Amino acid sequence: MRVLLFTGKGGVGKSTVAAATAAQAAAAGRRTLVMSTDAAHSLADAYAATVTGGSPTEVAPGLFVQQIDAQRRFEESWADIQGYLLSVLEVVGVDPVAAEELTVIPGAEEVLALLELLEQARSGRWDVIVVDCAPTAETLRLLALPEALGWYMQRILPMQRRLTKALKPVLTKAAGVPMPGDTVFNAVERLHTELRQVRELLAGPDASVRLVLTPERVVAAEARRSFTTLSLYGYRVDGVVANRVFPADGADDWRAGWVVAQDEVLAEVDESFPGLPVWRSVYRPREPVGVAALVALADEVYAGADALAVPTGEGPFRVTRTAEGAVAHLALPGAAREQVHLGRNGDDLVVTVGSYRRLLTLPAGLARLQVAGARVEQGELQVRFRERGRADGAGEEQL
Ligand SMILES: Nc1ncnc2c1ncn2[C@@H]1O[C@H](COP(=O)(O)OP(=O)(O)OP(=O)(O)O)[C@@H](O)[C@H]1O
Ligand SMILES: [Mg+2]
Repeated sequence: MRVLLFTGKGGVGKSTVAAATAAQAAAAGRRTLVMSTDAAHSLADAYAATVTGGSPTEVAPGLFVQQIDAQRRFEESWADIQGYLLSVLEVVGVDPVAAEELTVIPGAEEVLALLELLEQARSGRWDVIVVDCAPTAETLRLLALPEALGWYMQRILPMQRRLTKALKPVLTKAAGVPMPGDTVFNAVERLHTELRQVRELLAGPDASVRLVLTPERVVAAEARRSFTTLSLYGYRVDGVVANRVFPADGADDWRAGWVVAQDEVLAEVDESFPGLPVWRSVYRPREPVGVAALVALADEVYAGADALAVPTGEGPFRVTRTAEGAVAHLALPGAAREQVHLGRNGDDLVVTVGSYRRLLTLPAGLARLQVAGARVEQGELQVRFRERGRADGAGEEQL
């Protein structure tokens, strides 16, 4: 089963291109589901269809749209945790309305919406699932959270649970603060596991991300940053769609000006996404709405290429062996040397690019080695590892 994600700056045409790609897949006979992580129901609008309720609705043969009921997901997965947090906040005297606000994590609803994706992916009903993501892939970034929480979940949580059990009667009496019960611990654990599985699916070999942009400097710059960040978090980007490209023929002065300006940006785009196809879609005289118009748009965009082809080549993270030990390669396209910082904390590499940080848990074969050096070259971070000397400790290495 193929999973395709579409992201890009607000308003560039993410929903349109996602809907078009899905419509084309369904027209070719694939059982296709398209869903959106945001609450606006633009997919149904793009197909000019009415979609109600939270389950997949068929809008053309083999083409299903699902509007995720983020609220329901949120309640299912977060209610127990939220209930506990609210009871603690109540004891310490926080106003209930403010408390309610405090227990809602920004972006959480979107991340939880992806749990629906997991459910659909497991159902075996689909050949293709297309996901229309929120702008700039913030959602995908939030999915790195389980990785960051992994250490805590594995080591601290079980300890805390035992401790809480032992201390519960004493503490509840003393401070009046309710202790988290097993339901809370279980909810946290279940959520963690499910988010990790969503991430595994989306960072796995059958999934890839496509960046949608319009040929404008500001938009292209943001797409480049997303490319870097997505790679940092281990998602594979397999193409760029340049949407709303002005046709050159028969242009008046105003449009001719735009054609020249867009050409310059498109040339830069070709350069800044080396190795990736940059597909194009012309600016239509009207909104591409309806299944037929969208299939036509996809046919033009992919121009005969297989839109569902599984990406080949290296993923964003790979390890090569050397005489000395090994080298870990992490793709960071477009990242400047001085933006990248590296640290090590036990089994984790801590990679920071600008304001984004990833805790990358090292495979066992690497974890026992020592970092010997690192560099940023040809759009990737290369970390050299060698056998540990006897004098080396296992603590934090600042690199
Ligand atoms: N190639 C095109 N030619 C003409 N109109 C287009 C084209 N692509 C998209 N549009 C129109 O532009 C508008 C915005 O597109 P769309 O909703 O797909 O953007 P989006 O990136 O999903 O926006 P948002 O960030 O709000 O989710 C829609 O009205 C759509 O029909
Ligand atoms: Mg949209």
